[in-house]
Amino acid sequence: MHFKTIIEPFRIKTVEPIRQTTREERETLLKEAGYNLFLLRAEDVLIDLLTDSGTGAMSSAQWAGMMLGDESYAGAKSFYKFEAAARRITGFKHIIPTHQGRAAERILFGSLLEPGDVVANNTHFDTTRANVEYRHATALDIPNAAAHDPARVLPFKGNIDLDALERTLIENKGHAPLAMITVTNNSGGGQPVSMSNIRAASEICRRHGALFFLDACRFAENAWFIKTREEGYAGQSPLEIAQEMFSYADGCTMSAKKDGMANIGGFLALNDDTLAEKCRNLLILTEGFPTYGGLAGYDLEAIAVGLEEVLHEDYLQYRTRSVAYLGDILTRNGVPIVQPPGGHAIYIDALSMLPHIPQSEYPAWALSLALYLEGGIRSVEIGSVMFGHQPDGSEKPAAMELVRMAFPRRVYTQSHVDYLAEVILYVNSIKDTIRGVRMVSAPEVLRHFSARMQMVE
Ligand code: F0G
Repeated sequence: MHFKTIIEPFRIKTVEPIRQTTREERETLLKEAGYNLFLLRAEDVLIDLLTDSGTGAMSSAQWAGMMLGDESYAGAKSFYKFEAAARRITGFKHIIPTHQGRAAERILFGSLLEPGDVVANNTHFDTTRANVEYRHATALDIPNAAAHDPARVLPFKGNIDLDALERTLIENKGHAPLAMITVTNNSGGGQPVSMSNIRAASEICRRHGALFFLDACRFAENAWFIKTREEGYAGQSPLEIAQEMFSYADGCTMSAKKDGMANIGGFLALNDDTLAEKCRNLLILTEGFPTYGGLAGYDLEAIAVGLEEVLHEDYLQYRTRSVAYLGDILTRNGVPIVQPPGGHAIYIDALSMLPHIPQSEYPAWALSLALYLEGGIRSVEIGSVMFGHQPDGSEKPAAMELVRMAFPRRVYTQSHVDYLAEVILYVNSIKDTIRGVRMVSAPEVLRHFSARMQMVE
């Protein structure tokens, strides 16, 4: 008999209590946090979907591996295990550990970009964009045309616009040292990128003398979507598919806090010897010696095991199914989400859910506040608060106003998801009462982390 229920492919060995609060308490907590969910205390959150980054549960094999951590300053055994695990998947010659993904970005861009350069990407994540702009270079988002149509169901809405990529490299000849593809496309709904798109982008970059890098945070989820959606890949393992993805690239930046299944860590990997040396020199300046890169030996051990576990088929099937399960309930009940459900998160389309709130009053931010107020759920705005502030100081509405509910890996069970669905459907039923917000104060860069807001009367 073949049973159809897809179960969590693990049992739970350690538990961490979560705490209910009352609506009145949450009203006060929100006010104290300046109506910014980043400024809440985590213990005041019931279900925390702020991010899937570093929030996963580690396996018993990872915890056991941590006891083997070799804390030698140079040449630790743990480094070689980590290096072998990352190289097995990526095939890159140089594996440079960093404390998390953005450190890999800073070091890569610091070694490669000059003021005035242009970096094309399907969609830069916030820290990637900020690190490009910090070098006085331009971060250009060129997703395919369907990416900004939340309701459209297509298998690979994360694809980069290949014509726009070629045009960008021609128009910026001599000023586009690299182009990137983010897998899966986090800011665009967690949507995957097809193998054929990666291959074609790589060829275009080669033809125009630009390096081609993957932002590989969620490479395993992307590999799973290729396996299940792209012709010719059903019979291949996620590992083989990931290996092929990386084979088209000259390097990658990686946050091991996502598909590294670890609570901290990342790496920069690449083939070019000269560039690797430059990057390692920068690494030593701020992160640490090249065999630990700001991580403890035990972190390197946890990542080495995590990189292997993340490619297990039963895990990837459960992972994508648990996200789609919520997506299906919301879709059946008329809540507009980015279709189809992404690999690590559900994104509610706040622009279409809350047409009475103008983009200048940040509808996705307002919706994320309502989800916390009504049900103690923490999500994150991916909209005009995150992306509206331009480098020249002006404000431009984001292409989409999304509320992302990111699923920590191996943390929540199906009844948590049923509760989530109940809260979201309730909020949807009172959506006409949700008010917009106004920004009271914000820093120049990455303002969503610390901006303070007020409700619009
Ligand atoms: N690239 C992408 C696509 C990301 O999603 C992130 C992090 C980074 C780079 C940076 O990695 O956090 O290890 O420095 N995304 C998290 C998120 C924070 O919530 O999506 P990091």
